[in-house]
Parts: sequence; structure tokens; C-alpha cells
Amino acid sequence: RHATVGIIGAGPAGLLLARLLHRSGIDCVVLEHRDRAYAERRQRAGILEQGTVDVLRACGAGERMDREGLVHDGIELRFDRRAHRLDLAALTGGRRVTVYAQTEIVKDLIALQLRSGPPLLFGAQALAVTDADTDRPRIRYLHKGRHHTLTCDYVIGCDGFHGITRSAVPEHARRTYERRYPYSWLGVLAHVPPSSDELVYAHSARGFALFSMRTPAVSRLYLQVPNGTDPADWPDDRIWDELEARAALDGAPDRKPARGPLTAKAVLPMRSSVTEPMRYGRILLAGDAAHIVPPTGAKGLNLAVADVTVLARALAHLHHTGSTALLDAYSATCLRRVWRAEHFSYVMTTTLHTAPDQSPFETRLQISQLDRIAASRHAAAELAENYAGLPLE
Ligand code: FAD
Ligand code: DHB
Repeated sequence: RHATVGIIGAGPAGLLLARLLHRSGIDCVVLEHRDRAYAERRQRAGILEQGTVDVLRACGAGERMDREGLVHDGIELRFDRRAHRLDLAALTGGRRVTVYAQTEIVKDLIALQLRSGPPLLFGAQALAVTDADTDRPRIRYLHKGRHHTLTCDYVIGCDGFHGITRSAVPEHARRTYERRYPYSWLGVLAHVPPSSDELVYAHSARGFALFSMRTPAVSRLYLQVPNGTDPADWPDDRIWDELEARAALDGAPDRKPARGPLTAKAVLPMRSSVTEPMRYGRILLAGDAAHIVPPTGAKGLNLAVADVTVLARALAHLHHTGSTALLDAYSATCLRRVWRAEHFSYVMTTTLHTAPDQSPFETRLQISQLDRIAASRHAAAELAENYAGLPLE
């Protein structure tokens, strides 16, 4: 079997890339290890930058997002038992974020793909990518118990952080930059309306807490917990008590969140990682396969969308003009944005969390930084521009 472009992984990166290529008349095949139900249920990101919304809309995947997505003009920061609202739209000349879950984007893209798109194979596990430095790279994969080979003009690794494509690049040709954090997140879905209209990021002496949402009826809540935490040690009441304590404000005892049943309890470790370059011969990496960020800045999904937008444009340019100029610039173009998001995610994470060995001096520095954001339009705008998302190059 042959495809112009072979895509490994049907997360947001692989699915959106297939959609964009299809619209440029480029044939591709998507191989996804998991089954459809699993891919559609995996609880992950929920905050879309303006640019992400624009891309989904432009490729015909925006209909339900436009109907059901919640547009947010601002976020709230809490620290020192005080609340401060950041008006993202006012600070960025009108850029906003949209709450629309990754599960819903994946459902919408899969439905489009199966209706009118190029082939998407579930239960197809890529085992190895070879011949990267020839003009016919190959993917060996296992589907329904049988071994197959897909030959391609280009192979795109959209197979996430634990995928196999990255390892097809010889070790001498890649370098990984990494940092791990000394805390994790406990994430839950709460079947209760959000306690606030906007997201709340809370710094507290007890650790970080985040109040987010999925729909007007479902909240998404996160608590900083020690690495290695067992979710079984966190019964529902303990989670609610801790969320309340970390978000507590002076003089506002009545703003306590309403409680409801919790599901999808999971502990997420935090890591920053970037593999450079994002291309080797005819293998290209996109999304989590090339880089991950700690979730605090809500950048992971948005970076994956930015990568494949740049890549689809480069492949379309090649298809229409025969020039590899944009493809040759792919890695460098993406990495500028990736490192900006890495820095922002690192700063958000280390400003809002309390490390296990943190000194009172360091806590004072965090509060001072948050105070500065609350006091200065310049400091606030720096956060807001990064959070709402920088325009694509
Ligand atoms: P993925 O979504 O990981 O998709 C990769 C796909 O490749 C998967 O479907 C996988 O099954 C498939 N695959 C892997 N190996 C193979 C193989 N050998 N053969 C075939 N298919 C394969 N970001 C935020 O902004 N906010 C959040 O709250 C947030 N929470 C997260 C929670 C978790 C547990 C994780 C892991 C990530 C979270 N992220 C979050 C990050 C965000 O979800 C990712 O950045 C985003 O999913 C990246 O999309 P992707 O398509 O690159 O990779
Ligand atoms: C969500 C996740 C984030 O990492 C974040 O910064 C904001 C919201 C969420 O899952 O809703």
C-alpha cells in the first residue's frame, strides 16, 4: 500500500493534519493504535486559543464548536487570599479563548474523516518507521493481527509523547531538552455547574488549584498533589475540601463551589520536553511526539494544532509548486513558537505551584510576581498575550 503522506496517530494533531491535507488534494492514510471509543473518551485539554478556533473553523470542523463552545474574555488569578481578574480581550486587542474539550474536537474530526476524508484505520499499531533518508520511507504496522507495510513520500509522527516515530530518528541526529517538576495534578470532572463564569488559577500556601469547565453543566477541576499520589487516597469530600481551602478569599465566605459527583479521577505527572529538530529526512514530528509542556499554561493542544497548520501549508506548497522551501523551514518555524510556549508554561507552572522544598523567600517572590501582574498593565499584557495565543508566523 502507498500514500503520499502516512500519518501515525489520530489525536488532534494527526486528525487535523489529515483534514487539512485532504482539503489541499493530498492523499494520506491515518494509522491509530487505539479504537475509536478510546480515542474519543480520553480526558485531556479544554482551552483553545483564538488561532486554534480559527483553524478548526476554516477546515470545516467548527460547526459544533461554534454552537457549544464557551467564549471567555478573561481569567481570574487568586493569591494571598485575593482575586484579580485578567481581561484577556482588553489586554490583547480582542483575542479570546474558547472552552471546548479535546474529546469533542476529536469526535468532530473523526466524524468528518469517516464521512468524507482519507482512510483512518483504528486498531492499527505502527511498529517501526524505516528508510527515513530515502525518498520512500515506510511504516510497518499491525492491523487485525496482521503485519502490513505502508510506503509513503512523507511520514508524519503525530503519535504523542509515548509514540514510536521519534525513535526512528537516529540518536546522533536528535537532541531532547527536558525538565521534570516535583509535583503532579489530580484532575477530575465534576458533574456540577462551574462555580465561576471564568477559569480560576489559584496560588495558595496549600498548593495550586485550577477551576475550569467543560460545559455549563460540567466542571473540570485540578489540584496540585505530590508526585506518586494514588487517586484512591483522594475521596470526593477530600478533593472538595481542598479545592475550597486553596481558593478561599478574605471577606468572601459565600463564594464556595457547589459540590457534585466526581468522575475521571486521574493523576498527571508534569514534564517539559522538546526534541530537536522536528524533521529527519522524510520523517516529520508534530504535536506531543516532538514536545510536551506542563499543562498550567493550557498550551499542549494549541501547539499541536499550530505544528500541523504549518506542516499542512508546507506540504500543500510542495504539492502545488514542487518547492520544498516551506518544508525545509518547518522545524525552525515551529520551534520558535514551541520554545515560547515552553517558557510561558514553565513560568506559569513555577509561579503558581509550591515546590516541596520551597523556601519562604521563594514564596514571597511568587507573590511579588503575581502582585506585579495585578498592578501593571504591561505585566498583565505579557501574560495575556501568551495565554490567548500568539498569531501564527
Ligand atoms: P495525542 O493526543 O497524544 O495523540 C497521539 C495519538 O497517537 C494517540 O491517539 C495514540 O493512541 C496514537 N499512537 C501512539 N502510538 C502509536 C502507534 N505506535 N501507532 C499508532 N498510533 C499511535 N493540554 C492542555 O492544554 N490542557 C490539559 O489539561 C491537558 N491535559 C492532559 C492530560 C493528559 C493525561 C495528557 C497526556 C495530556 C494533556 N494535555 C493537556 C496535553 C494535550 O492533551 C496534548 O498536547 C494533545 O493531546 C497533543 O495532541 P497530539 O495529537 O500531538 O497527541
Ligand atoms: C484546562 C487545563 C489547563 O491546563 C488549563 O491551564 C486550563 C484549563 C482544562 O482542562 O480545562
